[in-house]
Amino acid sequence: MHLRSLRQNIQELKQLNLESAQASYHLANLVKQFTAHNSFEHLLRSRSSNGLYRRHRLTELTDDFHIILATWEPHSCSPIHDHDETIGAVAVVAGQTVETKYRCVAHAERGLCVGSSGNESFANCTVSPILPGDNLQIHQMANQTDALAATLHVYLHALDRFHLYEHHADRQYALIPKQLWFDQDSVDRPIAEPALIGVS
Ligand SMILES: [Fe+2]
Repeated sequence: MHLRSLRQNIQELKQLNLESAQASYHLANLVKQFTAHNSFEHLLRSRSSNGLYRRHRLTELTDDFHIILATWEPHSCSPIHDHDETIGAVAVVAGQTVETKYRCVAHAERGLCVGSSGNESFANCTVSPILPGDNLQIHQMANQTDALAATLHVYLHALDRFHLYEHHADRQYALIPKQLWFDQDSVDRPIAEPALIGVS
């Protein structure tokens, strides 16, 4: 499946207005088809390590959904974050990453009490769903290996705002609102056109 077909299929899926679990199921299948028919290995040769991850937007600014390719340098990790109640799917397309899901166990004075639901290791196009709800969308991604890794993220609505979870006491985390606009974000998350990174 080409990128343009994935975009078209996502647009059609959105128009069906399915309930979350059904939409997530179909989205995961689309992501599996796309990742199975594209090679992302070349991304792993791209740059030296400084412990960061980079995000490349594969959708147009006019698209009302996001397809993001993230590259993970050795021993890099994201902050704990949510996904603005979107439906999404994350697939490892090269290397190996670890996802830690968190669940909200209580609303605390300064934010949320969250507990880890455990780590899960991903490789070889495994797809992890993201669903609305406090217990189904908070996570942290990490590359704990000595090699580069890459993941593909599809969100059914454009994810330009979400929360970071900043630890401040015991299991309590403050919610930090985050605006993300790819053309303006200078935190090592450059835009790359699909042609430039070799994804068709
Ligand atoms: Fe995420």
